[in-house]
Amino acid sequence: MRLPVFDDVLAARDLLASRLPATPMWSYPVLDEAAGASVFVKHENVQPTGAFKVRGGLTLLAGMTPEQRARGLVTYSTGNHAQSIAYACAEYGAPCTVVMPEGASEEKVRGTRGYGARVLLAGADMAEAQKAAEALSDEFLLVSPGDTPELMAGVGTAYLEIFEARDGLDAVIVPVGSGTGAAAACLVAAAVAPRCRVIAVQSASSPAAHDSWAAGHTVERPNRTVVEGLATGRGFELPQRLLRSRLAEFRLVSDEQIRTAQSVFATHAHTLAEGAGAAALAAVLAAPDDFAGQRIAVICTGGNAPKPEIAALA
Ligand SMILES: Cc1ncc(COP(=O)(O)O)c(C=O)c1O
Repeated sequence: MRLPVFDDVLAARDLLASRLPATPMWSYPVLDEAAGASVFVKHENVQPTGAFKVRGGLTLLAGMTPEQRARGLVTYSTGNHAQSIAYACAEYGAPCTVVMPEGASEEKVRGTRGYGARVLLAGADMAEAQKAAEALSDEFLLVSPGDTPELMAGVGTAYLEIFEARDGLDAVIVPVGSGTGAAAACLVAAAVAPRCRVIAVQSASSPAAHDSWAAGHTVERPNRTVVEGLATGRGFELPQRLLRSRLAEFRLVSDEQIRTAQSVFATHAHTLAEGAGAAALAAVLAAPDDFAGQRIAVICTGGNAPKPEIAALA
C-alpha cells in the first residue's frame, strides 16, 4: 500500500475542481461563547451526498482507467462511504455494489440506492459486511474504505480549504472511524500549517483507531457506538501509519457527549449534524479548558442524521 503524499492532495483538488465547489466555513458568536473559543465550523454536511467522503469517491473514480470503471466496484460501509462511492460511480458510469450492515440507517441505504448502486445488507457490523464484500472481489474491484490512498488524498482537500480560509489556527479537530480524514488532515497540516495541532476524536464505545494509535500497531476492539461513521472495530493500516507520525492528540468522547454536541449544532449553529459530524465539536465541549481562547476548526463531516437522531434533538 502506497502512502499518499501532499502532492496527491493537490492533484485531487484539481480533479475535484469541476465537480465540487469549496464548502463554507462559518463561525457563530453564540457557539464561540458556549465553547469559550473561536470555533470555525467546516460545513461538509452541505456536500451533495451530505458528507465529506464524496471527495474521496470522486478522486478514486477520476483516477481509474475506463477498463477498471467498466469492471465495477464493490465496497462496504455504514453509509457515507457507501454514498460517496455510489455517487462517484454514477458520475463516471461505473457499476457499483455496496455491502452495508443489516442495521444501517434507512436513510443511508435509500441514499445509496438513489445513486443507482446495488445495496446488499449483510452482517451485524462492518466486519461482517467486509467479509461479504470480499466474497465479491473476484467479480468487482474491492475498495477498502480505509486503506485506499486515493480516498485519503481526496478527503485531504477539505483540510486544504480549511487552512487556506483561516491562518493561525491552533488546532483542527477531526472525527475518526477508519482514520482517512484525520490522516489526510495530518498530511495537509504538515505541509501548509505545521503549527496547527491535528486532534483526532473517536467514540469511547468504538475505540479501535484510538487504541491502534496508542499501541503503535493496529488492534481490534469492541464496536458498540451507535454513531454510524465512527463504528469500526479495527484500526486501518494506511491511515494509522500517517497518524502515528503526525497526529498531536487522540481523544475519546462518549456517545452521550456526541449527542449533546449534535444538539448544540442545531441550537447554536443552524446545523443538522449526524453523530459523527458532531464528534469534533463534542471534543471541544467536553474539555473547554483545553481550548479556552484558541482558534480552532471543527469539521462537521456529515449531516445524514437518521430520523431517530433528528427526533432526539427536539
Ligand atoms: C460523517 C462521518 N464523519 C466521520 C467519519 C470518519 O471518517 P474516517 O473513516 O475517514 O475516519 C465518517 C466515516 O464514515 C463519517 O461518515
